[in-house]
Amino acid sequence: MRFINSMLLAATLSLTATVASGGAFAEGDPEQGEKDFRRCGACHTVDEGVNRVGPSLFNVIGRQAGTAPDYSFSDSYVTAGEQGLIWTEELLITYLEDPKAFLIEYLGTDDVSTKMRNKFRKLELRENIAAYLGSITTNELPEDVDMSEDAEMSEDGEMSDDDSMSDSDAEESEDETSTE
Ligand code: HEC
Repeated sequence: MRFINSMLLAATLSLTATVASGGAFAEGDPEQGEKDFRRCGACHTVDEGVNRVGPSLFNVIGRQAGTAPDYSFSDSYVTAGEQGLIWTEELLITYLEDPKAFLIEYLGTDDVSTKMRNKFRKLELRENIAAYLGSITTNELPEDVDMSEDAEMSEDGEMSDDDSMSDSDAEESEDETSTE
């Protein structure tokens, strides 16, 4: 049984690795991203309330699009935010490749406006910057909420029957998949 379980776990993990290398997950290096943020720094700061040509990116990960205080956004950002666009690392990676195309896709119309014309083609650069911005956000991210709910559940002690020992391996790898 143990053997079979670990075979299954290994299979799950290698599947996870395949998905990750497929680019579905932000595997950026936050330290490199902090340096790479130079590429954004002409127009953006990460300081609260400090807008330049572009809005402050303080806490941008986990923030609703088009809501940085005292910044006059193009309508497309405000609308996208109202429709539920909250910046995550993954969405930022897609956005940075082509902001206009991202808004067209998100809003489902060609009639979009953006003052950010820059396109960042290099995936690694985008991943690093997204990881950096993710590492400094103090917003509660959806993953964090899920995890604390799990923690509360196990504190109740109701889930700790013996069978769950073998299940927990599977749960763990599911969690890894879902954060990606
Ligand atoms: C040449 C200036 C410029 C550069 C460089 C630039 N941006 Fe922007 N960015 C803008 C402007 C202007 C806006 C606002 C767009 C609008 O309202 O039309 C914006 C908007 C954004 C938004 C949306 C913010 C929100 O609150 O919805 C994000 C996220 C963003 N930029 C990230 C970046 C990142 C990360 C980089 C570097 C990789 C970068 N930008 C580089 C000018 C720039």
